[in-house]
Amino acid sequence: MSLKALIEQGEYYKGYTYAYPHKTSYQHFEPIALKSAWAVEDKSQLFLYAHIPFCGMRCGFCNLFTTANPKLALTKAYIEALTRQAKVTYEALGEQAKFSRFALGGGTPTYLLAEELQQLFDALAIFKLDYAAIPSSVETSPATVTLDRLAILKNYHIKRVSMGVQSFSATEIKSVGRGQSNQEVIHAIEKIRKFSFPILNLDLIYGLANQDPTSWAKSLQAALSFEPEEIFLYPLYVRPLTGIGKFGFSWDDERLRLYQQGRDMLLNAGYQQMSMRHFRKPIVSQIEYADYCCQQDGMVGLGCGARSYTRGLHYSNEYAVGRKGIKAILESYNNRTEADFKQIAYGFKMDQDTQKRRFILQSILHMTGLSIELYQQRFASSPFIDYPQLNELIELQLIQNQQNNWQLTERGLELADLIGPWFYAPDIEQRMSSYELK
Ligand SMILES: C[S@@+](CC[C@H](N)C(=O)[O-])C[C@H]1O[C@@H](n2cnc3c(N)ncnc32)[C@H](O)[C@@H]1O
Ligand code: SF4
Repeated sequence: MSLKALIEQGEYYKGYTYAYPHKTSYQHFEPIALKSAWAVEDKSQLFLYAHIPFCGMRCGFCNLFTTANPKLALTKAYIEALTRQAKVTYEALGEQAKFSRFALGGGTPTYLLAEELQQLFDALAIFKLDYAAIPSSVETSPATVTLDRLAILKNYHIKRVSMGVQSFSATEIKSVGRGQSNQEVIHAIEKIRKFSFPILNLDLIYGLANQDPTSWAKSLQAALSFEPEEIFLYPLYVRPLTGIGKFGFSWDDERLRLYQQGRDMLLNAGYQQMSMRHFRKPIVSQIEYADYCCQQDGMVGLGCGARSYTRGLHYSNEYAVGRKGIKAILESYNNRTEADFKQIAYGFKMDQDTQKRRFILQSILHMTGLSIELYQQRFASSPFIDYPQLNELIELQLIQNQQNNWQLTERGLELADLIGPWFYAPDIEQRMSSYELK
């Protein structure tokens, strides 16, 4: 369907393209050795990501790979499994592997107790990261911000601490099953600030049950009062049961209006917009490592559900799919031996078309933009010749040319969650929708 027709349908929130292809399009394949997947890769600037699939609670809206309140035995076994995986991965990559970026995500990595967090960093020591020099980010939640955990993060020179707040309205917070109070959020921010991490990010969500422009403005004001270096505004993706359509608009129209309101408030407060969700203070661009660009495809993911990207293969350690079985998947991960970690059997083999689409999506949905020259260098062709449908973005004034670099316009930015999925290859779309039926 044309993009114009899709826009006319008024469904602007089709999906968040944080990775392409999406992991719901991954499939099982004949096992291959981890070592051979990385053998011909450039390993000079890799990104190390560790996934911690634990949280203090399960928020009603959350569709991330995580489990609430795991027992101590489960987190202990998880760190032990991750330690085995780190060792095997280090051996498979070889000594020449160099890491220029690091992130701990989840879930809530700081759900781990301080001593467990330390054990995790001990497990990662094998990769010899130069923590003082590289950009690094850790996700946290208000209830798990404690001085002992923050001290460990500071010790490892973590540059960015990102905390989910979602809303400052007690009714909205309650409606998504989060236990936090504003007092707790304020204390958490104060503690984080004490350690002078260069970047504090706060996440907010719009489209929540009973949220309206007034309560949204209050949440935005409250977030701004802490002057965080970054703010992410997420549109809610799980339809709430109450409070929708109160204003006579569809949920998509409601979200679009709240987005526009949030965007305008942040731009007026001096933030720069980096993508549909990402806003940052200009000072962030002056921090030496902020725009540090890793090689596009060198991601080494550790932990259950973490993805890894080589140029030719995207894979994950998850061997099963479906939300129901998270605990079973976790237990299976915890039981993996070193020999198990040496094999990959689940993922996506990156053909030329998928590589090209990935390149285009990753660049065009962010303010970095799609550089014709970089595309030419990598694929010896032009994106507009390979994918004539991209011309529709120009016709609809959703992208504009800035010195041979195509960037989303204001309208393009607000429609990013429609533009992304519109550009997915039909076979990937098909795989994703059949996954959701499982
Ligand atoms: C890993 S969590 C952040 C850290 C921490 N777990 C917390 O919630 O405080 C990443 C962010 O994704 C966003 N998110 C997760 N599921 C979402 C959904 N269904 N719709 C919109 N945003 C979502 C939330 O803003 C959340 O803060
Ligand atoms: S939003 Fe954060 S705290 Fe809530 S379930 Fe998801 S990852 Fe866990």
